Amino acid sequence: MDASADDLSGLLVAIDHVGVAVPDLDAAIAFHTGVLGLRVVHREVNADQGVAEAMLAPVGDAAAAAQVQLIAPVHATSPIARFLDRRGPGLQHVAYRVSDVDAAAAVLRPLGVRLLYDFAKQGTRGSRINFLHPSDAGGVLVELVELAR
Ligand code: CO
Repeated sequence: MDASADDLSGLLVAIDHVGVAVPDLDAAIAFHTGVLGLRVVHREVNADQGVAEAMLAPVGDAAAAAQVQLIAPVHATSPIARFLDRRGPGLQHVAYRVSDVDAAAAVLRPLGVRLLYDFAKQGTRGSRINFLHPSDAGGVLVELVELAR
């Protein structure tokens, strides 16, 4: 791994998931399982992020496929609550899986790409995450995910 690389190509592993903001997690799960035919592979509450979330995957290919992350606020000051107030339910972020989230930040910062956190925070299933500021990423909130080992 070369931390002086001028892009993330050496660190990018996969598109990990897309995040969808939802006002009602159980109702959103019912749609995604009952209509789209996905299955829930994980649920948790992340108190630090102020969200309740579910990860969903295609039935046959959960390990390989990119997943859908449904995110609902657990209190009114959660960033997801603010997103829902401003924008309504819908696509909220795209998450790229990287081999090393700290190395990815070290590549991006000198390029002028702002990250939301000075240090990676804990994400789903013990992963380590950070986000690119949407203004520096074409209007898309981009999450970087380093899976727990
Ligand atoms: Co996410």
